[in-house]
Amino acid sequence: MNKKLFIAGNWKSNKTLVESKAWMDQFHSDLGDATVVLCVPFTVLSYFHDVLAASQSHLQLGAQNVSPFSNGAYTGEINASQIKELAQWVIIGHSERRKNFGEADLVLQQRVDRALETGLQIIYCVQDDHSSVPKGVHVVAYEPVWAIGTGKADSPENANAVLTQIKKATGISTGIYGGSITHENVKSFVTMDAIDGVLPGGASLDPGKFQALISAAL
Ligand code: PGA
Repeated sequence: MNKKLFIAGNWKSNKTLVESKAWMDQFHSDLGDATVVLCVPFTVLSYFHDVLAASQSHLQLGAQNVSPFSNGAYTGEINASQIKELAQWVIIGHSERRKNFGEADLVLQQRVDRALETGLQIIYCVQDDHSSVPKGVHVVAYEPVWAIGTGKADSPENANAVLTQIKKATGISTGIYGGSITHENVKSFVTMDAIDGVLPGGASLDPGKFQALISAAL
């Protein structure tokens, strides 16, 4: 395959520091020539930043959200500069943020603005080809809500058709699919023309399964 694959594992609200260390001890870091990003909770970003630097791994690091504000009196928020010290990427607009925290276009645009000002690269999630995508995002992820965590992935053909539309409308060159991706079905997605990679959630939690998924995709 001659396209450069983009694989972003999203841990969501999973794993303590102790569990993160165990994951890292078991992960092979055999990434081929794919760009692989691990999007972990804020609480373990610092650990991963240090361990990846020490092991000279090519695994890249991402956060799963970013404050819509800069630094200041915003209790409980993690801002873009704080993330940028530790990670290169951030996920914005995941359907779980939209659904559970009421996030909509305005606040998502503010999060994008803060990330861009700071030089963070953005994986922006949409649920269909009608959603708006802010200018400047680096990777767009199509993740149909009904396919997330259900074991029922979209068909590669439909995901390809949706990503074709999104990429055409936005001009973004890297489009990935998320929703019940596993080491068993990943190849059928990444061999599609418009699908440049995947956003596995559950399948990134186990180091062996995540490695198997990366190897299968390559
Ligand atoms: P899942 O999550 O792989 O656990 O279905 C995917 C996603 O959140 O996009």
